[in-house]
Amino acid sequence: MLVAPSILSSDFGNLAEDVRAICEGGCDLVHVDVMDGHFVPNLTIGPVVVEAVAKAATKPLDIHLMVQNNAFFVDLFAPLKPSFISFHIEEEKHPHRLIQKIRAYGIRPAITLNPHTPPEAIEFLLEELDMVLLMSVNPGFGGQKFISSVIEKAQRLKAMIEKRNPKCLIEVDGGVNDKNVKELEAAGVNVVVAGSFVYKHPDGIAKAISALK
Ligand code: DX5
Ligand code: ZN
Repeated sequence: MLVAPSILSSDFGNLAEDVRAICEGGCDLVHVDVMDGHFVPNLTIGPVVVEAVAKAATKPLDIHLMVQNNAFFVDLFAPLKPSFISFHIEEEKHPHRLIQKIRAYGIRPAITLNPHTPPEAIEFLLEELDMVLLMSVNPGFGGQKFISSVIEKAQRLKAMIEKRNPKCLIEVDGGVNDKNVKELEAAGVNVVVAGSFVYKHPDGIAKAISALK
């Protein structure tokens, strides 16, 4: 299982240190939640702060856009050379075009699905994607309860991926912990995002990451 801790649960007063801690603690990706206050009822960070994250990180960035006007934000963050940029299918009229735009920057394109969105919504985009991100909470905040219907969704998506693009990864984001990660793995999930479980773990960040792995 690959682990992508979400810096949304870090201490933003000690951001560089908290980014180094997850990288040294054995994470695979650094998950960056970009919220615009329109698509979701919360506002987070822009390219100035993410540049500081990129400087501190020794692992690749996984940028999760929760915004309106995706193309504008792709242009803003692409110069920071993240490994992945994901955008929400619910907020994009021309997902196929946006995937090409992300790939033209040399960045791996991913699409995110809200809890209500069926995997069939992106069936005919799977061949173009490197990853699908399934939300297991409503996007906007860390520390929410895991929505368990994501397990069935991951199983269905996995079957579609096997048929259309076996290299495409499945990532799950929201409420992930050392209990539900086992079910997620059995359902075919490759990457888990974890914010509060990693940053608030009583035994520390490295222990939390190895528990998820
Ligand atoms: C929610 C974000 C998540 C969040 C996960 O909109 O996309 O990445 O930080 O936090 P936890 O693991 O605490 O649910
Ligand atoms: Zn996220």
